Amino acid sequence: MAKDILKFLREKEYISGEVLAQKLGISRVAVWKQIQKLKDMGYKIASDQNLGYCLVSRPDLLLPQEIQRGLSTNYIGKEIYYFPELKSTNIMAKEKALNRAERIYEGTLIIAERQSAGKGRLGREWFSPAGGIWLSIILYPQLSPSYISRITLMTAVAVVKSIKICTQIEPQIKWPNDILISEKKVCGILTEMSAELDMINWVVVGIGINANIEHQDFPEDIQENTISLKEVSGKEVLRVMLIQTFLQEFEKYYDKFKRKEFLSILEEWKLNSHTLGKKIRVDMGEKIITGEAVNINEEGALILKKEDGKLINIISGTICK
Ligand code: BTN
Repeated sequence: MAKDILKFLREKEYISGEVLAQKLGISRVAVWKQIQKLKDMGYKIASDQNLGYCLVSRPDLLLPQEIQRGLSTNYIGKEIYYFPELKSTNIMAKEKALNRAERIYEGTLIIAERQSAGKGRLGREWFSPAGGIWLSIILYPQLSPSYISRITLMTAVAVVKSIKICTQIEPQIKWPNDILISEKKVCGILTEMSAELDMINWVVVGIGINANIEHQDFPEDIQENTISLKEVSGKEVLRVMLIQTFLQEFEKYYDKFKRKEFLSILEEWKLNSHTLGKKIRVDMGEKIITGEAVNINEEGALILKKEDGKLINIISGTICK
């Protein structure tokens, strides 16, 4: 109901309580209650005894109705679960995907304004205060589990594209999943999945973008290597617009991905690569390998030319600084 009232408030400068009540088939008291509810959510609504209600400003929150307004995707973001605070959107997304009693559609989003226990790769913590974009997408691709490592690279391409469109900033991708600006991390992607031998049950893609975060607010140990979009552009980014653009890009690339057209996505990945052509050290857990990053193959593996000239494919690892 509050959503319907918002729709009318957006259409006209002022609209009376009586007209709203008539249009929605509810009492004026019920209209008043819904207006209070919107105000509690952070909408600024002026009221005039003669003219009625007028929407003055919207809250800077990632509310589903704000994201879905004007969103032109077919299925990504059609369902959104919004939380002011969560431990981790990935944890919540996995719980939802696991709970078969609740029908969760492909493309459902979990968004939180902040996370108290945000998860990074390799069991690391992910700093997630208010002002960032912390979201997870639930997917059910009917593909072989071995194909899924590519989805992180695909997501990185969608993130880079949407940041470029919304801010004109040109980020780069550090294999496999870090998005960098001026060598510093602005976004991370965490993909988790549950699968049988030859069938995927669900995939959760978690995306964390340091959008409107002040540099001094990052914990000291990550300050040197971390950056926010606000820092780079010198002004607040429109988070809702960035999310809408990202969801549109994500759907476009994910549709290609499901049609197994990964090679064309990979070409875009390479155009935005921070890694290719560089001499790097890759931490593979049990050992560190040094060499030149010469290519990414069609599985999304990094091809490293070692000092002895031999080529090796690395499917998972972390590039050391
Ligand atoms: C990385 O280590 O680079 C991956 C970071 C992924 C962070 C995002 S924020 C939204 C989602 N929920 C989480 O707990 N983690 C991911």
